[in-house]
Amino acid sequence: MRQRVIAGNWKMHHGPSATRRFFQEFSPRLSDPEPLILIFPPAISLLAAVEARRGRPEVMLGVQSIHWEPKGAFTGEISAGMASSAGARYVLVGHSERRHVFGETDEQVARKVGAAVNEGLTPVICVGETLEERRAGRVEEVILRQLDAALGGLCDGGAARFLVAYEPVWAIGTGETATPEDAATAHATLRSRLVQSLEEARADDVAILYGGSVKPDNVADLLAVTDVDGVLVGGASLDPDSFARIAEAG
Ligand code: PGA
Repeated sequence: MRQRVIAGNWKMHHGPSATRRFFQEFSPRLSDPEPLILIFPPAISLLAAVEARRGRPEVMLGVQSIHWEPKGAFTGEISAGMASSAGARYVLVGHSERRHVFGETDEQVARKVGAAVNEGLTPVICVGETLEERRAGRVEEVILRQLDAALGGLCDGGAARFLVAYEPVWAIGTGETATPEDAATAHATLRSRLVQSLEEARADDVAILYGGSVKPDNVADLLAVTDVDGVLVGGASLDPDSFARIAEAG
């Protein structure tokens, strides 16, 4: 049985003070047993999050992006090793905003996956099609290309732990959610590719999350879909009450 995962991607929201306030309200709302909860604050808020979640070690923290090099002249970037020593255990790789706003390529995504795994961070590999690609009937082609490229970065033949997140770009921050049928089709496609690419037992362990306008009132329907093992939540993870309600559904 794969463990349920409820992940929150804060994007460029919540500096250190807001992070402390979030955990003051969020931590007491968690009851046992919970799904695995992952929070991706801005890197500048990571240390505040590590301190603020004290007493809730089951809440794991991650960063939203890393550079693939361990160090060097890369102004504005952070490395996997730095993220790990600051308390991150996970990293989002290939989020659609990185791909479409910052022009991140499949090749860069693969290098980031490799860097993450080398430093013991668990990558959450994000894939998803744009509206144009969906209308052109290219969902499968696009998400499999993105997945294959990212898996190419696991230079250990796929022994390292990783997660996958299916996030249709047209559903992110738009209030549009994929129907449970859309999610089921995409997740089944990704699951069967994992089975082809990795040993079956390993493929079975990989959680595939759905992301895109997940809210407290639609999370149960999405989690009911076969092969949806969890959710990656943007906007609705910023508010401690709404994120706690989503975590309860997990
Ligand atoms: P959203 O973002 O929940 O605000 O649509 C999801 C994401 O970008 O991970």
